[in-house]
Amino acid sequence: MAVSSSLQVAFNRHINAEFYSSYLYLSMSTYCDSIDLPGFSHWMRIQSQEEYDHAMRILTYLEDRDGRVTLLPIEQPAIEFDSVEDVMRQTLGHEQHVTQLINELYAVAAESADFASQVMLQWFVNEQVEEEKTARDVIAALDKVAGRSDALLLLDREMAARVPTPAAA
Ligand code: FEO
Repeated sequence: MAVSSSLQVAFNRHINAEFYSSYLYLSMSTYCDSIDLPGFSHWMRIQSQEEYDHAMRILTYLEDRDGRVTLLPIEQPAIEFDSVEDVMRQTLGHEQHVTQLINELYAVAAESADFASQVMLQWFVNEQVEEEKTARDVIAALDKVAGRSDALLLLDREMAARVPTPAAA
């Protein structure tokens, strides 16, 4: 059974939101590189890749459900940030926004009595818990660093150790 037209519109909007997230984190990655924090830059690049995978996960699901994918324009992300602390606070704010979008998408799936979509979206509901926690953890670490350059260098090295998680199945 194909997805309802309201759900198809909502899925297409969300594919766009995930691609925008990928673009935003790529912009943050280049900013971190510009302020000589290669570890944060690397971490953000992986974050960007994961958002691309999220978009593709929904895109593939929509195709599997005989829906029509519509690729919408991707908004230009911010280019400049005040500091790496600003980057991470904006990351948390953005993830909280995405959580809200996922919740709204889930509500449309529930209104459409589309159980397969609700099951698929459960993965994203759980992922958002992780995404917000991870951003909060990095902010807490930055708060402890409190601007000391030696501690920031060590934290940057830790951020460089992030490895990509396998692409969404
Ligand atoms: Fe795709 Fe960071 O949520």
